[in-house]
Amino acid sequence: MKRIVVMISGSGSNLQTIIDRIHHSDVDAQIVAVIANKADAYGLVRAADASIEAICIPSSDFAHDRVAYDQQLIQAIDQLAPDLIVLAGYMRILTDEFVHKYLGKLINIHPSLLPKYRGLNTHQRAIDNADTDHGVSIHFVTPELDGGPVIVQAKVPIFSDDSKDDLAERVQVQEHQIYPLVVKWFVEERLVMQDGYALMDNNQLGSQGFAADE
Ligand code: GRF
Repeated sequence: MKRIVVMISGSGSNLQTIIDRIHHSDVDAQIVAVIANKADAYGLVRAADASIEAICIPSSDFAHDRVAYDQQLIQAIDQLAPDLIVLAGYMRILTDEFVHKYLGKLINIHPSLLPKYRGLNTHQRAIDNADTDHGVSIHFVTPELDGGPVIVQAKVPIFSDDSKDDLAERVQVQEHQIYPLVVKWFVEERLVMQDGYALMDNNQLGSQGFAADE
């Protein structure tokens, strides 16, 4: 059975959907540990409630030393021997060394329709630009921040009276649908990263990732 490590910084609602889908046997995998960089990340409680090892490696002491911090992460992760590392609201930039070490088995969820709005504050930026669409992307992680090949996206409308919280809530509904699905594809070995592209069932995915009507 494939071994998954989930990395978080906060609430862990995406983590919860993956836990639930594994629990309901929709995804045949085991979450071997949840790692947080913040002691108060609620996702650690979710992990413990699901009898998953919950590890906190506080990043606060390493604010300016990403290399030393990521070396600690690597040490912890290598003991867990994961097949897949799922970044689920992990809010710290990873070093190139870390990314290269796990290239092809590291995926992230980003709350925008990439390549739009890399980085932070995506919901407000979409509203400020008067966009009519917004959404979420799941992508393989490469050293370029939020720049790795997209696996799948989900789109939501933006309404004229939306606050960023309204929009974040609408996007999260989609996040909870697509992240467990991507994990399932990966553990079933349908999804791989090769030569900088995401491949699904041996087909190279386009810039917007998997589309059901492709
Ligand atoms: C999600 O909105 C995700 O897109 C972003 O961080 C948030 C994590 O939410 N990267 P949660 O911790 O899974 O509830």
